[in-house]
Amino acid sequence: MNERQWTDIVTAATKAPSIHNTQPWVFTASPDRLEVATDPGRALPVLDPTGRQRVISCGGAVEFAVVAIRAQGYGVEVTQLPDAGDPDHLATLRVTEPVAPTETDRKRAAAIEHRHTQRGAFLPRAVPSELVDSLQAEAREFGIWVKHVSQSEEEVASVFLTSRAEEMEQREPAYLAELERWLRTDPAAVDGVPVEAVPSADPATRPSNWLIRDFVVGSRPEDRPSAGEDRDAPPPPVERPTVLLLGTENDDRYAWLDAGRALGRLLLSATDAGLAASPLTQALDWPATRSQLRSRLSLVGHPQMLLRLGYPATTGTVSGRRPIGEVLRTR
Ligand SMILES: Cc1cc2nc3c(=O)[nH]c(=O)nc-3n(C[C@H](O)[C@H](O)[C@H](O)COP(=O)(O)O)c2cc1C
Repeated sequence: MNERQWTDIVTAATKAPSIHNTQPWVFTASPDRLEVATDPGRALPVLDPTGRQRVISCGGAVEFAVVAIRAQGYGVEVTQLPDAGDPDHLATLRVTEPVAPTETDRKRAAAIEHRHTQRGAFLPRAVPSELVDSLQAEAREFGIWVKHVSQSEEEVASVFLTSRAEEMEQREPAYLAELERWLRTDPAAVDGVPVEAVPSADPATRPSNWLIRDFVVGSRPEDRPSAGEDRDAPPPPVERPTVLLLGTENDDRYAWLDAGRALGRLLLSATDAGLAASPLTQALDWPATRSQLRSRLSLVGHPQMLLRLGYPATTGTVSGRRPIGEVLRTR
């Protein structure tokens, strides 16, 4: 790979989602390999003291890089956590022989540009169960289980724990201070979460109760049949997002990296299928709500990511990315 190719690949990798758009990654390219490390300087010590969500974020970037390398027409072998002495060194991507990209490789790579976290209401259109099945199968390739939170008692428990965690967070000044450091009002910001991407009137609060807000959407007057419509007809369907919970058998850096790679892959396939997603990770931020989620949903293993999926009503807000020169070194 030459420098221009690496620049394209790392540009694609940095389009991955990351917690608070911290982009906590550093890439080092040499002709036949790309090293991916996490940048502890971009950690969130209050929200994410173990670095779990930071490693998941980097896992997404690893998978986006894999997809971009394949789309450039090369094979790639990934070694996860290659250096026992350096916990920040997360992966080595070794470029192998030229391989013609498949149609799927091309579609996944094309989806990188179109994927954005969408926190607004989705269209009232259900995600087909075959699509959910295929996303689950894709995640399994990374050793990740994906639970479709579809039973009403599971949904109620997830919503309850999400809002409970949100309340805990709102009462935690250190959490709020950290959050505020990553909220951006400047549309040209290269990192952090743009206020326009968050459906809230008040940028100082974190309107993260999306599942609960979805229930409220169902009772708003504008969602009822308007004048002139058949009043006896059932009301139009309201947004019922598909909620997926990604989890792992273990809860260590290997597992987090796998979860991030699976998340990256799943988001690209979902995007290619016309879906959008928004992570809802508050309940997983706190050990108490995370373990309650495990017991209330009878999970075997460790929840890593709660994802709301649906058909988007708008194209969504594009959040910034740091200049490539800040994150890519070449040898
Ligand atoms: C591990 C992880 C956790 C996240 N948690 C949340 C969350 O709780 N709420 C939310 O709105 N977005 C969450 N996000 C999405 C990020 O805020 C988003 O990826 C980032 O702002 C970049 O925007 P983009 O995805 O549109 O590129 C999470 C992303 C990751 C990778």
